[in-house]
Amino acid sequence: MLRATLRSLFALTLALASVAWPGTTPVRATAPTPPMGFNDWNAFGCDVDDQLIRETADAMVANGMAAAGYRFVNIDDCWSLPGRDAAGRLQADPKKFPYGMKAVADYVHARGLRLGIYGDAGTRTCAGYPGSLGHERIDARTWAQWGVDYLKYDNCFNGSDGSRADYVRRYTTMASALRATGRPIVYSICEWGESAPWSWAPGVGQLWRTTGDITDTWASVKSIIAGTLPVLASAGPGHWNDPDMLEVGNGGMTETEYRTHLSMWAMMAAPLIAGTDLRTLTPSALAILTDRDLIAIDQDPLGAPATVTGNVLVRPLSGGDQAIALYNPGDAATVLTASITLPAAPAYRLHDVWSGADSTAATTSITVTVPAHGATVYRVHPLTGPVAP
Ligand code: GLA
Repeated sequence: MLRATLRSLFALTLALASVAWPGTTPVRATAPTPPMGFNDWNAFGCDVDDQLIRETADAMVANGMAAAGYRFVNIDDCWSLPGRDAAGRLQADPKKFPYGMKAVADYVHARGLRLGIYGDAGTRTCAGYPGSLGHERIDARTWAQWGVDYLKYDNCFNGSDGSRADYVRRYTTMASALRATGRPIVYSICEWGESAPWSWAPGVGQLWRTTGDITDTWASVKSIIAGTLPVLASAGPGHWNDPDMLEVGNGGMTETEYRTHLSMWAMMAAPLIAGTDLRTLTPSALAILTDRDLIAIDQDPLGAPATVTGNVLVRPLSGGDQAIALYNPGDAATVLTASITLPAAPAYRLHDVWSGADSTAATTSITVTVPAHGATVYRVHPLTGPVAP
């Protein structure tokens, strides 16, 4: 009898120990609005190190980007050694990260920011470093122990049979491994839109890439927009389409094109992950990246997708406003008209996001000439009460 009681007490203790250590309860990261931050890949490729990440965190605070909402400092490919340690763990390259990755996380956290890292759902990363396929649990644990808050999980060397089931399996295995760490880690699925992730990823990760890699060219931005507009409806609070990181500031596009890049990312409720050197930002790139009106549209708490009619996007915002973008992907200026549905009101205030001008209109039909590669964006607000002449 006594032995039986002791045995059941022992079993109970074991059961409790396996579920309830503080800080290890399985949790899920959330991204109620699209994540904002920085990633080194677009501007630096494999040239990532401790100094760059620390200086980027400092720059993000000093230049006002942190205050504008940018939060994640994300390390991309090439951070690790080519081999695992004797215990099978990934190791940060000590030449690039001489103080280890935990020290980087501590530095970033001390500035009120979050640290992101990169892994791959294959045998090797795209640049040839160790992949996590078959090592999901130990890699997720390693990242959690370092204090990582965000994982971008790539798709190179995946040995896949190309089936959707294989994509779902590989990406879900890492989702479970992240959850099992007990640390909330935002999970950014990067399989380049290959298995139509918008149809299965909303329950698995917080964001998923919709297309192949962006480059610092207008042709690339235009084609990514065209590839993402048809799937906007699959996003919402906690799960976002990711048309890839920003190129604003890298020099390959005109000011108009960079404005369109940010305008359309905001209209698409995309993550805003700056991909340029934040330590040497020009005033114009900083102004685009921190545009308050566009960030408010991107981060609108309703998280409602835009509807697309031709080259006109209309996005409902919380509080009854609407964002409208008249987008001109063409090579000549063109006249575009938007007609939107808003509650009947005596008049509407149109706030032109880029010029800052406010005007009052009696109808919700807007006709403007949009320059080549341009986007004119308005925030429309129904006015109540009498309108001043
Ligand atoms: C892939 C990803 C890129 C970048 C590189 C790194 O191409 O899509 O965003 O992470 O790998 O090697």
